[in-house]
Amino acid sequence: SRIPKYVTQLRTLARVSGSAFTTRFVEAPQLVLPSSMYPAGHADGTVVWAYQVDGRPASWPGATVEATRGTATTITYVNGLPRSSRVQPLLTVDQTIHWADPLGVVKASQPYTGPMPGVVHLHGAEVPAAFDGLPEAWFTPDGRHGPAYSTANPTAANAAVYCYPNTQPATALWFHDHTLGITRVTVLSGLAAFYLVRDRFDTGRADNPLRLPAGRFEIELMLQDRLFATNGQLRFPDGSNPDADLNGPPSNPLSHPFWIPEFFGDAMVVNGRTWPVLAVEPRRYRFRFLNACNARFLRMNLTDPANASSTTPPSAVAMWQIGTDGGLLDRPAKLADPAKADAPKLFLAPSERADVIIDFSGLRGRSLVLTNDGLFPYPSGGPPDPNLDGQLMRFDVTQRLSGPDTTYNPATGAALRGGNGQPPAIVRLADPATGTIAAGVRPTVKRQLVVFEQETVDCAVSDVSDGPLEAFLNNSKWNGLRDGTTTPIPGARANTGVFLTELPRVGATELWELLDITDDAHPIHIHLIQFQVLNRQAVDVDGYRAAWAAMFPGGTFAGQQCDGSFGRTAYAPGEIIPGYGPPRDYLTPNADGALGGNPAIGPFLTAAAQPPEESEAGWKDTFKISPGMVNRVLIRWAPTETAIGDAQPGVNRFAFDPTAGPGYVWHCHILDHEDNEMMRPYAPVK
Ligand code: C2O
Ligand code: CU
Repeated sequence: SRIPKYVTQLRTLARVSGSAFTTRFVEAPQLVLPSSMYPAGHADGTVVWAYQVDGRPASWPGATVEATRGTATTITYVNGLPRSSRVQPLLTVDQTIHWADPLGVVKASQPYTGPMPGVVHLHGAEVPAAFDGLPEAWFTPDGRHGPAYSTANPTAANAAVYCYPNTQPATALWFHDHTLGITRVTVLSGLAAFYLVRDRFDTGRADNPLRLPAGRFEIELMLQDRLFATNGQLRFPDGSNPDADLNGPPSNPLSHPFWIPEFFGDAMVVNGRTWPVLAVEPRRYRFRFLNACNARFLRMNLTDPANASSTTPPSAVAMWQIGTDGGLLDRPAKLADPAKADAPKLFLAPSERADVIIDFSGLRGRSLVLTNDGLFPYPSGGPPDPNLDGQLMRFDVTQRLSGPDTTYNPATGAALRGGNGQPPAIVRLADPATGTIAAGVRPTVKRQLVVFEQETVDCAVSDVSDGPLEAFLNNSKWNGLRDGTTTPIPGARANTGVFLTELPRVGATELWELLDITDDAHPIHIHLIQFQVLNRQAVDVDGYRAAWAAMFPGGTFAGQQCDGSFGRTAYAPGEIIPGYGPPRDYLTPNADGALGGNPAIGPFLTAAAQPPEESEAGWKDTFKISPGMVNRVLIRWAPTETAIGDAQPGVNRFAFDPTAGPGYVWHCHILDHEDNEMMRPYAPVK
């Protein structure tokens, strides 16, 4: 049966501030669907995994943590998930991929059935590595630990104490589970919440010097897609039969026994409720948008269906993006401009955030639907169903205006930075108008990194792909070992069982060129720092692949095996796939002067570089890389406000030493990808 839309109210999130408190992860029921949708025996709702922040009721999303720049927050995270010995996850855990197996070994004959590991990452935050919530820093309710778990802080065995310095400018971060190999399941189950950093400009109070809408006119929106069984519970199958009670493991039998390359649900959930409605006043509101889907890219418009006829599509209402992942833009970017047919929409890949102002004044009595037309997988897949995943929520402009609206009006185009009472203008590494490197910025290292999905190939019918099996960053798995061997990548640095190839010097500026030779876009996320998008440029991918394959004289590089070693049912869990080919030197520059062990990209460029979108012209910690393109970012291992001349290789401008401890990670933020090898550890060095 269909879930009725726009019958439940949007849940606004409780906010918690405080310098020290406890956050537990627990299992709890929650009304996610309209209550009439739950059959007998399930009346208390959908069982979710939820954060219980500082004694607030456990909820999905958890209560928002509000921190103040310059004041540290110490959070004791406690794994309070069930301890009984039944198989614990709400949803199937694929034990055949490399995951945080508390038994320490992957054995299908002995699947792990104990309580589930967890670890919390504060996404986008500038934090010491020991508090970063690394995928192997997990801990279980019964006190087992992953190899990167730090016992430095005195704490209970089922807990970790993280101290966040809150040194970065105001922005919307979020925290979510990051356990190795099961993040797609733990986040899908509900382990996600906002973390707002405030500063003296963006105070969150009505009298903030920027005059941004505040109080009840500032609302976090966590956007997710989910699949529900008819008993109202979360499902995690392949998505092809949304109305059925599908039991058992997710199926992707053509290419993998369990793993599905991307999870897509047909029901849209905002702040933990399906298709909610929010009654608003005819005034400006500030919305902190977060795409927290596993894999879905959301391309959103705000439209008034009542305005439409069979011949006229509904007209769009403008939205103004005023900030990106790392903070405010210099000036607002107009989205969904009704005057322009091809106007950019509000376009967010998983984990991207947008700080947005919507002006409802003059729209009294109207009902506006937040629509989505993002293809999935993006951009190679089909469009959403306009009546299901094509809609997210509705705004009803039915509230009485409670007082005059004197807030900042983005339609004036007035600057948000650089003036009196405003934060300083963005330190420009790149000129977003031209897509070129800003004057005075000299990247000292260039890396060319190939983003790649290993397809299974039906060797009886050459060139027929059954689908992706694993996804790789720079043709390397998480551990950096060459397959079939215990030999690390030449030039890599050993680090608690993994091998690092990205070793930027603290203070340095680097140019990363991510060449996406898959069919789809990927949101690439780098921990610790915020970066700037330089440009994107089309590449002759077939030509490049040929040059790349030529580096593997044996004829195999990861992804092209026809030796039957990875049969669909013959897959032995933990089995090592041959195919990394001969050693490549990752740390000697190629003909483009770039590290990464790949052929130079230069000879294969086919068009002029495209500058970033206006809405990307700020600090980012996650950005979309496009297939068939080299996607360039400038990364500085320094806080965002560091002046150009003050960022020097070897000079640490952080308030802590990021070269100490276990290092960080960079990865694709399609959760299904990062769980299946599309993540690499990296470490800043002195
Ligand atoms: Cu939002 Cu490494 O994660
Ligand atoms: Cu990906």
